[in-house]
Amino acid sequence: MRIDAITIFPEYFAALDISLLGKAQENKVIEFNAVDLRNYTHDKHKTVDDSPYGGGAGMLMKPEPWGEALDDLLKPDGSTVLIVPSPAGELFKQATAQELAQKEHLVFACGRYEGIDQRVFDWASDKAEVRLISLGDYVLNGGEVAALAMIEAIARLIPGVIGNAESLVEESHSDGLLEYPSYTKPAVWRELEVPEVLRGGNHAEIAKWRHEQSVARTKAVRPDLLP
Ligand code: ADE
Repeated sequence: MRIDAITIFPEYFAALDISLLGKAQENKVIEFNAVDLRNYTHDKHKTVDDSPYGGGAGMLMKPEPWGEALDDLLKPDGSTVLIVPSPAGELFKQATAQELAQKEHLVFACGRYEGIDQRVFDWASDKAEVRLISLGDYVLNGGEVAALAMIEAIARLIPGVIGNAESLVEESHSDGLLEYPSYTKPAVWRELEVPEVLRGGNHAEIAKWRHEQSVARTKAVRPDLLP
């Protein structure tokens, strides 16, 4: 998979060069590219913003640099998915990550200020699948941190990125429930004991206990996830 992120702060994406995603890039399982939007400006000050028509607080990102960057990045065969991190978008979920992990090319358009001129997306919707996606019901200063979170959630689902693919099966949200609590050695720590059932070798009992814990935890903190 190839992932591009258009941003005025390419430095944010240095985090993708470390750990599992860094390895995945070295192994050419994913190709990642942070693209500086200011490279597509033509004035001395490399201007990317302007005041909004109709008034209102703050500045908006001008369409011209975005248009030129997307002219360079969108695949002519229409296979690119253009993802716009925005608190006004659909909610990003594990199912969204699973769907996007199947795609060949993702471009993240990371806006700053009050966002990007709407015509950029209206224009691009003929050339790519355009998705406005929100990380949650809160507001960040720009799209970069949201893009990083989405890229990590998506990339780890691509075969070859995570060594132990089994660890993807039992984690939170993979089956609609939150993950059960986990323990390692020592068996007693600060007078707290690892539950007895986990110390015996009865796999059916362990699976039953873990499922009950998942349901109880989900009921307690995320009842909205239960049917
Ligand atoms: N940009 C600003 N806030 C955001 C959010 N909650 N999700 C995605 N992108 C954002």
